[in-house]
Amino acid sequence: MIDNNILKEKFQSYFGEGEPRLFTAPGRINIIGEHTDYNGGFVLPGAVDKAITMAILPNHTDIVNLISIDHDCAAVFFRIGGPQPKEQWASYFYGVIEEMRKRGATVGGFNAVFGGDVPLGAGMSSSAALESCIGTALNAIYSLKFTREELAKIGQMTEHNYIGVRCGIMDQFASIFGQKGHVVRLDCRSLEYQLVPFKPKGIEIVLIDTMVKHLLASSEYNVRRAQCEEGVSVIKKYLPNVELLRDVTMEELEAHRAEIDPVSFRRCAFVVSENQRLMDACAAMEKGDFEEVGRLIYATHDGLSKEYGVSCAELDFIVDIAREHKEVLGARMMGGGFGGCVIALVKKEGVAAYIEDVKKRYQVKFDKDPRVIEVEISDGAREI
Ligand code: GLA
Repeated sequence: MIDNNILKEKFQSYFGEGEPRLFTAPGRINIIGEHTDYNGGFVLPGAVDKAITMAILPNHTDIVNLISIDHDCAAVFFRIGGPQPKEQWASYFYGVIEEMRKRGATVGGFNAVFGGDVPLGAGMSSSAALESCIGTALNAIYSLKFTREELAKIGQMTEHNYIGVRCGIMDQFASIFGQKGHVVRLDCRSLEYQLVPFKPKGIEIVLIDTMVKHLLASSEYNVRRAQCEEGVSVIKKYLPNVELLRDVTMEELEAHRAEIDPVSFRRCAFVVSENQRLMDACAAMEKGDFEEVGRLIYATHDGLSKEYGVSCAELDFIVDIAREHKEVLGARMMGGGFGGCVIALVKKEGVAAYIEDVKKRYQVKFDKDPRVIEVEISDGAREI
């Protein structure tokens, strides 16, 4: 996490002596359950110890003044209710404020300095961390009384309406509800959730970033979502109670295969099977059977790569190397896809060898270095 004193000093050097309040919100990992959230299914994310942190104070105007440490301390200001700023990072602030205003809140101007250590483009939801941090901070400094669930939805709708990604709720929910040592088993339709302890004995979570930035991600993400909706619209003609892919079994999907575009069919089949894999993984976790969890994680990768079409050569390569290491129980791409990182569950004694092997062979094959990201499952958004 970014050093709190540095943040405070920066705030004071830009905005004067006042004592700012500090807020933080983390990125996330996801054990299994990918591209299920916007289909009303289940996910199993956890908040991590990489976060966006912000120093903030109301300024008693209708102007928002922002300094982004991670953009070389670039400064942007905008008027609340005025036009959207052109900088994407500032648009997250604009979007959260607008979404709060739509829900009847009065948000005043403020000064804020923020920065963080959630790796950008690694599929760890740096944008959800920012949205959750902004939401939590404004909720507190303006006593807005939004619930945590509303804050998650405000972040999600910021992505939809001001960034252009029709994302699900997983990332924002994990960033806000995460708890140290636990993953969140979330039903993305009802938003009911359980915190499940996640401390498998002798097993580590290893993240390896391909350093491929997911440029295609937002456009292709919306295409995947539309393909899922297309499948649902066919099945709904026969089963009117079906609202989302979550409601569809593999048999029902198969029964209407002929009427669904073949590519959309494969997308839908992946989602239906992925939701089942998550259930199976939760059952295996309860029994402490992490070999089985690992097998399911590999199967998820195969589905994401071959059926859902959101992997890339670099991700596949790192997962294929994992399969040669018997200490790696499971590995798969994580997040939206088209780059970002691989998450692997690895027996402690095999971690160093797997990482070494990937580093060496990845460099030879792709002429660049992957980045190993160490994480611990940590608490969600909060005031410091
Ligand atoms: C991105 C989105 C999430 C989710 C994942 C894929 O992280 O923001 O809502 O759909 O991709 O599981």
